[in-house]
Amino acid sequence: MGSSSPLTRRNRAPSSVLLIFCCFILCFSHSSNAQTKPVFACDVDTNPSLAGYGFCNTLLKIEYRVADLVARLTLQEKIGFLVSNATGVTRLGIPPYKWWSEALHGVSYVGDATRFLGLVPGATSFPQVILTAASFNVSLFQAIGKVVSTEARAMYNVGSAGLTYWSPNVNIFRDPRWGRGQETPGEDPLLSSKYASGYVKGLQETDGADANRLKVAACCKHYTAYDVDNWKGVERYNFNAVVNQQDMDDTYQPPFKSCVVDGNVASVMCSYNQVNGKPTCADPDLLAGVIRGEWKLNGYIVSDCDSVKVLYEYQHYTKTPAEAAAISINAGLDLNCGSYLGQYTEDAVKAGLVHEAAIDNAISNNFLTLMRLGFFDGDPKKQIYGELGPKDVCTPSNQELAAEAARQGIVLLKNTGCLPLSPTTTKSLAMIGPNANVTETMIGNYQGIPCKYTTPLQGLAATVPATTYLPGCANVACTVADVAGATKLAGDADVTVLVMGADKSIEEESRDRVDLNLPGQQEELVTQVAKAAKGPVLLVIMSGGGFDITFAKNDPKIAGILWVGYPGEAGGIAIADIIFGRYNPSGRLPMTWYPQSYVEKVPMTNMNMRPDTSNGYPGRTYRFYTGETVYSFGDGLSYTKFSHSLVKAPPRVVSLRVEENHVCRSSECQSLDAFGPHCENTVSGFEVQIKVRNGGDREGVHTVFLFTTPPEVHGSPRKHLLGFEKIRLGKMEEAVVKFNVDVCKDLSVVDENGKRKVGLGQHRLHVGDLKHSLSIRI
Ligand SMILES: *[C@@H]1O[C@H](CO)[C@@H](O)[C@H](O)[C@H]1NC(C)=O
Ligand SMILES: *[C@@H]1O[C@H](CO)[C@@H](O)[C@H](O)[C@H]1NC(C)=O
Ligand SMILES: *[C@@H]1O[C@H](CO)[C@@H](O)[C@H](O)[C@H]1NC(C)=O
Repeated sequence: MGSSSPLTRRNRAPSSVLLIFCCFILCFSHSSNAQTKPVFACDVDTNPSLAGYGFCNTLLKIEYRVADLVARLTLQEKIGFLVSNATGVTRLGIPPYKWWSEALHGVSYVGDATRFLGLVPGATSFPQVILTAASFNVSLFQAIGKVVSTEARAMYNVGSAGLTYWSPNVNIFRDPRWGRGQETPGEDPLLSSKYASGYVKGLQETDGADANRLKVAACCKHYTAYDVDNWKGVERYNFNAVVNQQDMDDTYQPPFKSCVVDGNVASVMCSYNQVNGKPTCADPDLLAGVIRGEWKLNGYIVSDCDSVKVLYEYQHYTKTPAEAAAISINAGLDLNCGSYLGQYTEDAVKAGLVHEAAIDNAISNNFLTLMRLGFFDGDPKKQIYGELGPKDVCTPSNQELAAEAARQGIVLLKNTGCLPLSPTTTKSLAMIGPNANVTETMIGNYQGIPCKYTTPLQGLAATVPATTYLPGCANVACTVADVAGATKLAGDADVTVLVMGADKSIEEESRDRVDLNLPGQQEELVTQVAKAAKGPVLLVIMSGGGFDITFAKNDPKIAGILWVGYPGEAGGIAIADIIFGRYNPSGRLPMTWYPQSYVEKVPMTNMNMRPDTSNGYPGRTYRFYTGETVYSFGDGLSYTKFSHSLVKAPPRVVSLRVEENHVCRSSECQSLDAFGPHCENTVSGFEVQIKVRNGGDREGVHTVFLFTTPPEVHGSPRKHLLGFEKIRLGKMEEAVVKFNVDVCKDLSVVDENGKRKVGLGQHRLHVGDLKHSLSIRI
């Protein structure tokens, strides 16, 4: 569309417009300085009178500047800062600001503020988060965040992006049907926590400058216990997540806590759904109590888009719109994505439902964030990062990181020995499948416009020019399969590669799956091609969630299976590098792949993590589910062989010294609090050292997982991840990986009331096949 938004910045306008604009300022600035539509806030050069305002004075403390600004505003002006399209205040030289930008795996065009036009036609599109998570590489999470924030700042400087990004999504991927599972780091609270804090630091942290300064502001969402979008008529807008305290503290909350406490995130977004009968955006315990009170958020709490309206209109949680506005602000909400608070807050104040002080408090949190971003520091070009521009977007090294992230994440699930393929002896390839030559599918949802795409076909054909291609189905739904065409192609080629799976028509926001089978005729196509193929057949699954591909796992004609997530703009490069052995696969599944029978037993709406023997509910995720899996959390093969040995183990017995009058001295106890004198008085920290050896004939990267199985107290998990570390080893090389384990912190579990406890009895640590038991007693 031709016309640009009212947010037009000087440097975004074409030069002719710029001239007219400058003339406008020159001609009118003397008579009506303060009334000139500001381009950026505190533009003291254009409007010298602003220099006298405390909020523009960069020498003052931020808190003082915020208070100064709030004190200058009328109630109506204040309300304008409660909504995501902030209108600004021309008389104070404050331009409008659009809060909503997204950067889940690259700067995205979803939201109001970010557009790919003219100067920046695209940005680096990294793999969808579920694949990046599969790398289990915390430095990679942070490295990606850093590149994304550089590109975001560069786009901001030319007026095509905002400063506030509502990413990442750190909800636990507790059910494979969830359409947004692809956006998350998977099912494990520890991995999700590390992802949350790592990615947020990458986005937010400035290079060495003031710790209070933000490069861009990140946001962890959707708080909390969300993860149902639209399943059999249950929509996120009306879903009441019934969550017990144990699952809340053990599973749903940890990524958010880590995001705020370890990542110092500048924002948290409350979700649409209710938790135990209360809309999250109207729950004072969850917002003011936990996020701000316990975790000490330094920033703002934003609603999911139109959440406030939803709690009134869909959930009928309040009797009037004004009550919905008041209850949210009083609960601790600072900003509304949407316009609802703009419409109804004044009524709420007039009706005495909310005090103006609560509004001051909310906008102070919003202003604080903008101050930390430099929004009130005058010309962005003269600030830190002011030199960034289009030249810093889609650089070769940024694009290489997108390829590298895909290489690090891709998971090899099956290999009968034919992988890697020899690039010299593989003379011909047949590429078959609806995802074999896709572009947009590779970037999943919350996408932007990538710098460029390399499709799987392009990636593999670069190595084997004699590559033939047939989609085999019109799309991933695959209602009709061209079996005859596909089998003919496979019959003529040295190797056949099938690229199957899903796309946004199967799983995305507002679209949950109802089953785990490959869509339509995909299974039939794969099976028939495998039968007819002349050479080995490789199956590549492109998807966010897992599939029941038991048929392929068991089919001897299928020589290899790869899961490639949605691998980002450079997906084809990474897939080819792995298939031809230029990169030795090292990704591990961040979520369980269940059989189809699982979803027939488990309603998606059941939030319980633990199994229930009384009704046959099997539990969720590797921590609790004991049934059959197709593939398990942590699965993933390499082209080399790694082995572990224990170099240093904890003692066999750890005695926690409890006080003389402790109740557990006189009676049987199952567990002790994971805090208190017995945790401080005892030497309860120890080191575990594991030697890892690459016994194969090529370099490889290996993830060491340290799991622990606690004694069976408080419905403890069957095992849980205590730490992970990724290392690169040359052939026949070995190295020692160290983990520090603290009995009270790391070996504790969450009890029925949400309290952390150390189980008394046998704890088992495991790394691969290695096991070590220790007994905790008093
Ligand atoms: C913000 O304003 C734009 C028009 O400039 C509108 O299209 C968009 O829906 C608004 N966003 C929200 C979240 O209300
Ligand atoms: C593969 O996809 C690319 C990108 O859309 C397209 O340019 C190319 O023509 C496709 N190749 C074939 C053989 O269809
Ligand atoms: C983790 O990722 C970073 C950033 O890409 C990379 O430099 C490092 O080598 C990776 N670690 C391993 C063990 O592969």
